[in-house]
Amino acid sequence: MKINRFEFIKKIVSFFVLYAVNLVTAWAVVIPIETAKNALILQTDADNRLLITYFGVKLENSSEYALLNAQMKQDDNRAGVFNHAYTPSGTWNLVEPALSITHSDGNLSTELKFISYKNEVIDANVQIHSVLLKDPVYGTEITLYYKTYINENVIEQWSTIKNKEKGSITLQKYASANLNFVDKDYYLTLFHGGWGREMNPEQTLLSYGIKSLDSKLGTRPDSFMQPVFMVSFDKPATEENGKILLGTLAWSGNYKMEFEVDPYHNLRLIAGINPYSSEYRLVSDKEFETPSFIYTFSNQGIGEASRQLHRWARNYRLLDGNGSRLTLLNNWESTFFDFNEAKLINLFADGKKLGVDLFLLDDGWFANKYPRNDDRAGLGDWEPNRKKLPNGIGYLVKEADKAGIKFGIWIEPEMVNPKSELYEKHPEWVIKQPERPEFYFRNQLVLDLTNPQVQDYVFQIVDNLFGKNTEVAYIKWDCNTAIYNANSSYLQKTGQNQSQLYVDYVKGLYRVLERIRSKYPKIPMMLCSSGGGRVDYGALKYFTEFWPSDNTGPVERAYIQWNYSYFYPAIALCNHITDWSKVGIKYKTDVAMMGKMGYDIVVSNLSEKELMFSQDAVKAYNSVKELVWHGDLYRLASPYENPYSSLMFVNEVKSRAVIFNYVVTNRFDEKFTPTPIRLQGLNPEQKYRIKEVNLYPGTSTTLDTTAIFSGDYLMKVGFNPDLNQQRTSVVLEVNQEAK
Ligand code: DGJ
Repeated sequence: MKINRFEFIKKIVSFFVLYAVNLVTAWAVVIPIETAKNALILQTDADNRLLITYFGVKLENSSEYALLNAQMKQDDNRAGVFNHAYTPSGTWNLVEPALSITHSDGNLSTELKFISYKNEVIDANVQIHSVLLKDPVYGTEITLYYKTYINENVIEQWSTIKNKEKGSITLQKYASANLNFVDKDYYLTLFHGGWGREMNPEQTLLSYGIKSLDSKLGTRPDSFMQPVFMVSFDKPATEENGKILLGTLAWSGNYKMEFEVDPYHNLRLIAGINPYSSEYRLVSDKEFETPSFIYTFSNQGIGEASRQLHRWARNYRLLDGNGSRLTLLNNWESTFFDFNEAKLINLFADGKKLGVDLFLLDDGWFANKYPRNDDRAGLGDWEPNRKKLPNGIGYLVKEADKAGIKFGIWIEPEMVNPKSELYEKHPEWVIKQPERPEFYFRNQLVLDLTNPQVQDYVFQIVDNLFGKNTEVAYIKWDCNTAIYNANSSYLQKTGQNQSQLYVDYVKGLYRVLERIRSKYPKIPMMLCSSGGGRVDYGALKYFTEFWPSDNTGPVERAYIQWNYSYFYPAIALCNHITDWSKVGIKYKTDVAMMGKMGYDIVVSNLSEKELMFSQDAVKAYNSVKELVWHGDLYRLASPYENPYSSLMFVNEVKSRAVIFNYVVTNRFDEKFTPTPIRLQGLNPEQKYRIKEVNLYPGTSTTLDTTAIFSGDYLMKVGFNPDLNQQRTSVVLEVNQEAK
């Protein structure tokens, strides 16, 4: 065979290139971070920097990860290294950094070189991979942590930054995680909102440049944008198909998540505390630990990714995630601030009549000098109001007990009304600017949780309630304003930077919650912030559940709950039946059932039939709640694509399931369900019988409940719940036939 000169030279060159690549890969350190299905691969380069060379479905043969880097033919001479595992700034990097430091001498440059890798096996399912990186000039030590939850296919990633200089350094940007993805296209779904309209999804094809999701609200950080997202790779994923990443930051304060499509069309993701107004000083030898960024990947669609995250949350994060919950009657919407002992005692009886487990006393029970009779006064003064409750909380607890119902109570311990004794005594405990007019939202201000005395005070509020009244069985922890005029007199007095307020506030809050949980490990607490203004996996470590929205209109809720369900398991979502809308009680109840059901209605206003229905509904809920709380969720039909929404919860052994179907339109000519809805998650070989439950008194099902179906049939053909104008919500119970 004749080879011309040009080809010969090409062959020689490629031989040497291959040789060089092999040499580099031979020396390179390859770190596979693996879960049952997926892998994130880290690898050092010739300069001993740490790169991300792969993210996706795990390879069969892990020795082949070493070959990955050689496949990347992306010239990085001009623009620096885009796929660094934790991008520093001020040296070779020219893109958005994960880390930015002002060193003690004022120098702004940081370089990170790989030092060592460690893998700690916690148990058969959990491992912590840690990688130490170091700045060769300043000695700054960065440790990247990747905690893998193998069966759940979840990675929890965070980092620590240690100052090894003699003087203090200032962290300008200190992300939790930096990831890199290589694919054809990237579709980001974010969830925006506002009060009463939480969690609206919006999907966009990411284009070149940076798209950021962030919050600067301090407390209630999620009010406009939730700290959760999905990225579909290649093309938009569906429930059952496609490559999808679900991610969220476990931090109850300002966050920032940046999505940068780089010049080579790869996606860089940086997630962490928002650097906005948050420079953080680190004295010599001190370490800063970032919050966790939590993510899960599936190549089989959004449904599987959600189920992975739910399982992780129940097993490892949500307080008492595998436990049970209390159904309740809340008095907020039925009384607002207007109640007294006698009225409450009647409500205990109403709760008992309904059949719920607990009565929850909401806002308005406290403060004497400035009684809490509306939202303008009293917040901060946590003594029972003597006029409304002359015998105190202990008496109410006893009366509830007599009525056969548990007792829970509302607090908003991080906040203060200017019209309160607390504000009069301790104006220095309040976050405000000394020289500027105060700025209120709902007539209130935020207490300065950077101050240990304030932390003690907040802890005492809870400790007094539980300590004095050991029978208090539940707390609703509210948070109704953002931080305005961010300034702390405590940080001022102690010579710390004001720019640490946003971060130290959250740390202070976690310190309080940590103390509460070490003394009261399991008492259920609801995380509330006028709805979903604050929910994240940082806080849910301490809370058993959260309040997704003040909007309890059931059609709206069908959407709101659908969207939260991507990230949070149903056991964590408090869904209350209220008088918010004119939609009938059956529809409201069916919607509330797909989570932790509760009531906030005037029971005595229910008609005889409505009461009878509700009493039966509590029983029906008790018989399916196990499936909702601990089962696997399959979103069968989206309300965004159909005139209805359909969701199914299946138990682990696939012997029982419950399906919720809700019509979401009142269009006159709608055809609703002309065809069956395909079920999921069943055993194809099993036989099942389907019955309709939670029927309204006087109505009967239109479904044939004698039919027996195989799981195969139900998952290939489906089942028609027969939704129509008269049957706007249908709950189905699926039971395996005895063999
Ligand atoms: C806002 C909450 O979302 C409501 O449920 C209620 O608790 C009020 N605060 C009380 O002020």
